[in-house]
Amino acid sequence: MDTAIKNNVKTIYNEDYKSLKELFIDYRATQRCLPSFNVNDNYDLRAVVEASDEMDTHVMVMTYPPVAELNTTEVFRSLVDGFKKGFKNDIYLHLDHSTSVDLCKRAIDSGYDSVMIDGSQVSLKENIKMTKQVVDYAASAGVVVEAEIGKIMGRDVVVKSDNDFLADVDEVKQLFETTGVDIVAVGIGTAHGFTPTEPKIHFDRLQEIAEAIPAPLVLHGGTGIPDVDIQKSINMGMSKINIGTIVHTTYMKHAFEEIKKAGNDAYPPFIMKKVLPKIKDVVKDRLKAVNFK
Ligand code: 13P
Repeated sequence: MDTAIKNNVKTIYNEDYKSLKELFIDYRATQRCLPSFNVNDNYDLRAVVEASDEMDTHVMVMTYPPVAELNTTEVFRSLVDGFKKGFKNDIYLHLDHSTSVDLCKRAIDSGYDSVMIDGSQVSLKENIKMTKQVVDYAASAGVVVEAEIGKIMGRDVVVKSDNDFLADVDEVKQLFETTGVDIVAVGIGTAHGFTPTEPKIHFDRLQEIAEAIPAPLVLHGGTGIPDVDIQKSINMGMSKINIGTIVHTTYMKHAFEEIKKAGNDAYPPFIMKKVLPKIKDVVKDRLKAVNFK
């Protein structure tokens, strides 16, 4: 296991928790961060789970809405349950970036551990309304709810002015206090995907937000963020980090190469046996960056 002794404190990433909510509260208090990876099917799911098991850490796997729709939330829940049997630490399942309250409800009904309702593209009033609907629905099931405020750049996110993406501290407070949401994703300058230049993280804003609300915060856009900035953010209150693009691009690139080599003989299990270690390598590399203490 990757542990280190720092200031005589042994930091571990496999502690037992009664619930995911409890884990997040403790991670915020102890400046730790749950590594969370976007996965697409049983193959990259296996790669993430095996890498995490070998590094002896809890992990979260996340389905974007197209993945949840195509596989169905029920099937993904069963897949993760299947993997959980063979592995020693916790594997939490999360719905990522859902703009639909209904899809969040479906994921909650299917037994997801956590859901994100993304109201970052609508007005604060509408964002609060959507978030509250999901928080109320999730309450009896004990499911964690993540909201977003400010914007994570990249993909088709519309940024209207220079600082339009930055989460406003008063708005963050209002969203958190009126909805009782568990964890909050905040726009502080990160972007989804590979970025042409290093994203400039607004640490001053992160500090203001972390002082304004006690909620565990979520760092999106994990693929393009340098390790030093990931680690600084974790020390400032980021308790969950989302990492996606590096997983699916590694998967697609190596699958493409192997299929090209095999030609008409390409057979999925043989191809995937060669691709899986490549995905595991990048997952382990990111786990080392996140579980750094
Ligand atoms: P990356 O694709 O940049 O890793 O970001 C993933 C993410 O933030 C998913 O919510």
